[in-house]
Amino acid sequence: MILLPVGGAGQAMAAFRQSDGSVVWKKDDAGNAYSSPLLINVDGFDQVVQLMAASVFAINPLNGDLSWYVKHEAQAATIASRTMRWGGALLLVFIVVHILHLTTGTIRPAGSFSHQDVYANVVTSFRIWWVSLFYIVAMIALGFHLFHGAWSSVRSIGVSPPSPNPLHHRVSLVLAILIWAAFTAIPVAVLTGFVR
Ligand code: HEM
Repeated sequence: MILLPVGGAGQAMAAFRQSDGSVVWKKDDAGNAYSSPLLINVDGFDQVVQLMAASVFAINPLNGDLSWYVKHEAQAATIASRTMRWGGALLLVFIVVHILHLTTGTIRPAGSFSHQDVYANVVTSFRIWWVSLFYIVAMIALGFHLFHGAWSSVRSIGVSPPSPNPLHHRVSLVLAILIWAAFTAIPVAVLTGFVR
């Protein structure tokens, strides 16, 4: 039998027959999991232990019946990791609005736009508080997204070994702060009158 954490309603775990791939059993509701199930033996009984994002549970491999279930706090759930989905969606909206705003001039919050005078486009737009606010909020999302994306992607592709305080974590943090600060400086400089 092959056991897989398939994920979804009624098929959190499923067992397939090795000879023809048919489903032997499928049970429980849970999202998909990224860790492989682990077969252990306790007092002569086989258990298949599965680590999920917010729980660990064990099942009887023969029929999928739950042996035990423990909830746990996610270890590395930072704001950055929790906001990946919404932050990513906001960045998608941002990039479209941004091109329509400062490249094509389709969106003209200041009323005017010149393809020859990029400086004036930037200054007249960012003097408007809600335009600056939109960019500042988008840059916060960009900072979080970059930080989490940069360090977790190297972990996901297996380049970096697990470590409690990995170097790429700190490198990603510095990179994200630098990029966030550099972009945010522009609307802030115009809003505060530093750039006129
Ligand atoms: C506060 C932050 C930002 C400011 C003030 C800013 C400013 C500008 C300006 C003035 C242009 C037009 C350039 C031109 O017409 O020559 C532009 C274009 C562009 N920006 Fe940004 N930008 C910012 C953030 C970002 C971010 C975070 C990204 C990427 C995720 C980005 C991607 C682009 C792209 C792809 C273009 C089109 C290229 C072009 O028009 O030459 N920008 N930006």
